[in-house]
Amino acid sequence: MSKLLYITANPKSDSKLSKGMQIGEVFLEEFKKEQPDVEIEHMHLYSMDIPEIDMDLLYSRAKLSFMGYTKDQLTEGERTKLEKMHALADRFIDADYYVFVTPIWNLGAPAILKSFMDCLFIAGKTFTYSEHGAEGLLTGRKAIHIQTRGGIYSIGRMVDFEMGDRYLSKALEFLGFELMETVFAEGMDHNPKMIPEIMAKAKEQAAKAAKEMAKLPVSL
Ligand SMILES: Cc1cc2nc3c(=O)[nH]c(=O)nc-3n(C[C@H](O)[C@H](O)[C@H](O)COP(=O)(O)O)c2cc1C
Repeated sequence: MSKLLYITANPKSDSKLSKGMQIGEVFLEEFKKEQPDVEIEHMHLYSMDIPEIDMDLLYSRAKLSFMGYTKDQLTEGERTKLEKMHALADRFIDADYYVFVTPIWNLGAPAILKSFMDCLFIAGKTFTYSEHGAEGLLTGRKAIHIQTRGGIYSIGRMVDFEMGDRYLSKALEFLGFELMETVFAEGMDHNPKMIPEIMAKAKEQAAKAAKEMAKLPVSL
């Protein structure tokens, strides 16, 4: 049985309030039609305990990697946060398909997404160093990003200002993921009259992407 991780980075927990989550739900419905047995795990980042990289985490990494400490010699705070980070990474690794739903906020993704991704970058676990440089270890997994935007970033002068989808896509690529094209619904705050049309188009794209993704074999 395959597993799909549905990751939402939005304080809105009710999908009625979030356009991104409404598109995400269409994706999940279509995916389930293709793979009825798929196990879906929802990670709603705002209701999770995600450790920030602070002095405890910095020290725990330094102590274990080059200061000659063992895990037992870490302070309680260092050990607890390090264990949380690894547990989160293990939970993340244990899936085949990944759907990220985020809004663009101030040109990037909500900061909680960065904190979450920071927990996944663990040398020896999710990436490694070889003679070719850094190499992602999470190969064979498929991911898609559904992003909602108040303005327009697909054409015109704002193209280079979009850093939420660009960050997430590059971070996942670094970790070895195979990425599907991002589904975005844009311009909805600038042009509210167009919302029904923009949402319908994004839902159609999400449904199509779900069908395609569900057909792609995972090869972990
Ligand atoms: C704090 C905040 C910052 C935002 N920054 C941007 C932005 O930089 N660019 C943009 O196009 N829209 C921005 N928006 C608008 C949201 O991206 C847009 O309303 C989106 O549709 C929200 O998706 P949701 O309904 O899933 O929450 C911002 C909204 C908030 C609340």
